[in-house]
This record gives sequence, C-alpha cells and structure tokens, in this order.
Amino acid sequence: MFNTSDGEVTLSSGEKTVRFPTVTGTEGDVGIDISKLRADHKRITLDYGFANTAACRSSVTFVNGDTGELRYRGYRIEDLAAQASFPEVAFLLMNGELPTKAELEEYESELSGHTLLNEEMKRMFDAFPRGAHPMGILSAATAAMSTFYERYHNPRDAESVKESTIRLMAKLPTVAAFAYKKSIGQPYMYPRNDLDYSSNFLQMMFGLPVEPYEIDPVVARALDVLLILHADHEQNCSTSTVRLVGSSEANLFASVAGGMNALWGPLHGGANSAVIAMLSEIDEDGGDVDKYVARAKDKEDPFRLMGFGHRVYKNFDPRAKILKEFASDVLERLGVNDPLLEIALKLEEHALTDDYFIERKLYPNVDFYSGMIFRSLGFPVRMFTVLFAIGRLPGWMAHWKEMIEDPNTRIGRPRQVYAGHTERDYVATGDR
Ligand code: SDX
Repeated sequence: MFNTSDGEVTLSSGEKTVRFPTVTGTEGDVGIDISKLRADHKRITLDYGFANTAACRSSVTFVNGDTGELRYRGYRIEDLAAQASFPEVAFLLMNGELPTKAELEEYESELSGHTLLNEEMKRMFDAFPRGAHPMGILSAATAAMSTFYERYHNPRDAESVKESTIRLMAKLPTVAAFAYKKSIGQPYMYPRNDLDYSSNFLQMMFGLPVEPYEIDPVVARALDVLLILHADHEQNCSTSTVRLVGSSEANLFASVAGGMNALWGPLHGGANSAVIAMLSEIDEDGGDVDKYVARAKDKEDPFRLMGFGHRVYKNFDPRAKILKEFASDVLERLGVNDPLLEIALKLEEHALTDDYFIERKLYPNVDFYSGMIFRSLGFPVRMFTVLFAIGRLPGWMAHWKEMIEDPNTRIGRPRQVYAGHTERDYVATGDR
C-alpha cells in the first residue's frame, strides 16, 4: 500500500508500515527522500538509468516533459532564444539572475581577455592524427587546460571557481576552432576581441590569415540562438557526469572534460551528427521515409530514428519546435536549399501519425533539426557535437557550482544489487 500525505509517504506491506519524508519542488514535483532506507531498513532501490531517481535538488533549469516546457532560472526558453545573447544566458545560468547592462559588458570584457590559449598548448594539437575526431581533441584539451591553471583548482574557493569558468567559457571556442583548422590542415586563426562571442568563433573557424573574413549577421545570430538552446537541460547524462566527477572535488576542467566524453555518445550529444547521417542515408536511398519508419519500429532491426524520443519529453521538445521554424528561416535567408530538410519534415510527419511513435510519445528532440542548421552555417558534421558542447558548457558549470555549494552534496557512489557468484574456493590451475 502506498499512501501519501503532506510531507511523508507510508509504504505498508502486511504488518509492516514504513514512513519516508517527501520533498516538494517549487513547481509541485514531489520526491520521496529515501536517504535512510538502507540504514533503517536494509533495503536499496534499483532504477536503471536513474529514470525515476533525483540525484539532487536544483534551481538551474526546469523541464516539464508532459507539457514541453523548458526554463533556465525561471525564464522561458522561447523568450531567451528570441531576445537574449549566449553570453547573457551563460551569465544567467551561472549566477542565477539576468545581468544588468553593466554586468554583461563586464562579463563580455572578461571573456574577451582570456580567449587566447597558452602558446605551449598549441603543440598539443600536433600530437593528434589529421583525421582525429574533434570531440577527442576537445575533451583532451579541456583536461590539459587544468595543468595550466592549477592555482584555480580549489572548488571551495569562489574566486578560483570564477576564474576557471571564465577561462573555459573564453577558450573553448578557440580550442574548437584550432581542432577544426588542424583537421583540414589550415593555419590557426587567433581570436579577435573586437567581435562578439559567436562572431569571434565564426572567424576562427572559417577565416584565413590571407584575407579579411566578413561576418554574416544572419549566421552569427543563428549560432547564438543554437548555443542558447543547447545551454542547459537539467540532469541529462553529460551534466550528471559533470556533477558526479565534481562530487569527488575534482577540479572544474576535469569535471567538464568528463561531461564532454559523455556528450559524445550517439544517444546523447552525438545524435545531431547521427541525424544527418540518417537523413543522408534516406535521401541516397530514394527518400522512402516509410521504409525507415518501419525499420525504427522493427525490434529485430537496431535502427532507431535519431533525433526522436527523449527520456523526459513525452511531448514536443520545445527546442525542436523553435529549431524547426528557425531551420526554414535560416536556410531561406542564406539561400540554402537542403534536400535533407524536406526529408526531415516528411519523416516527422509520418512518424507523428504512426501508432508506434504515438504510443511511446516519441517526438523530435533538440538534435532532429539542429544539425541541418549547423550544416547550413557551414559547419562540418564532425563539429556538431563540439558545437553542442560549447553551448552546454555554461549549464555544466552552473550545475557543478550548485553541486559544490550544496551542503547536502556527498561524493556520488551508487549501490548495486549483486548478481554474481556466491562465495567459492580457489581452484589450482592444474585442477581446473
Ligand atoms: C539529447 O536527457 C537530456 O535532456 C538529453 C538532451 C539534452 O539537452 O541534454 O535533451 C539531449 O541527448 C537528446 C536525445 C538525443 N538522442 C537521440 O535522438 C537518439 C535516439 N533516441 C533514443 O535512443 C532514445 O529516445 C533516448 C536515448 C533519447 C531516450 O531513451 P530512453 O528514455 O531510455 O527510452 P528507451 O530507449 O527506453 O525507449 C522507450 C521505447 C523503446 O521501445 P519499447 O522497448 O518500449 O518497445 O521507445 C523506443 C524504444 O525502442 N524508442 C525508439 C526511439 N527512441 C525510443 N524507437 C525508435 N526510434 C527512436 N529514436
């Protein structure tokens, strides 16, 4: 029996009744606090993928998967994408409030002052093979950055944490652009402090030292919106990784590098690249979307519709809604006619009328349209997850800070239900 009343739940089984306190969030979500379960009742819970388990209380981001709502520090994603800049959203996520004009100017000036990499770090890029995946370079360079800033490692020192967040925000685009230039054998482009965050990244990515690079404001604004939409998403796989690594009091650079590696997976941040590969396969195969919808439904076929489904959203991912309209607008304004957009719209239409997807509440997620826009802006597919990481960085750092500052934080150490051999004696080699 499972009864709830204000502040507690009781579990009754036969003669035994057990009471647990509950915690209620500001949006009415209720968590059952089982922190005494093992000590008082010698029981643990089992929850694959932590689908039903909150690891913390958090004030950074609210997601309502049933209604398709996403808010950073209480502000709607639709409003932030339409009106804010990425540095402004980064400030909001990490500090909890939107910056005043003066605060934003100071923050942007701080970021501009740290966009250069230590010249010794440049040699690191030469250690990678020409075809190295940029995510491998990005996470390695992020961990390597920690060796240049050991004076800022102390997670308990607020000034050190601030200095670390500034360096990561300022230098990640430079690292990403250097990784790209290395992969195509072109000279590195140094940052330009006269440009805004997204424009500076574009000139480092696509500029050449032999000619001026002209920033297209449509492209710069599109990139800014994409970074805003990727900036945070509560306790997703990579953010939970950053929190877990940081719970051992590892420094921020090491924690973020861990999150990057989690993001790389095709079920998470690697999905945006996988969506383009999937749409290209469908396009090359004659555009028969029904065939691929059928494959996605076939349990014998490992094929999944990449960019569809979400652990939390059982309604439209609000970011996918924004990106769907944005994709058509950006491609039109850039005069890009991408056949994959037509395939994507057809695939979405067919999937959303199919019982398999309706029953499982599988809708397009943030990755379904983002890749097409990244591609229209000139980014190669292998850079898409890197772009996701640059966007997600302020979210990772906001959660890491919240975890470090939370007096309830303990080092993350889940339990298990042991399913292996019971005790047995050693058998000498000759007797096996
Ligand atoms: C991101 O967590 C976050 O917030 C992540 C993210 C963020 O901002 O950080 O939003 C970013 O990672 C978005 C997700 C990107 N990944 C993909 O697009 C990959 C394709 N989608 C999936 O593999 C899947 O939907 C997940 C990984 C996103 C969610 O996995 P769950 O919650 O573990 O769901 P599941 O795998 O248990 O699927 C439930 C059912 C299964 O069928 P049944 O066993 O019930 O018969 O739905 C089916 C699955 O087979 N299913 C799919 C499907 N996704 C789920 N079937 C076909 N195609 C799909 N894409």
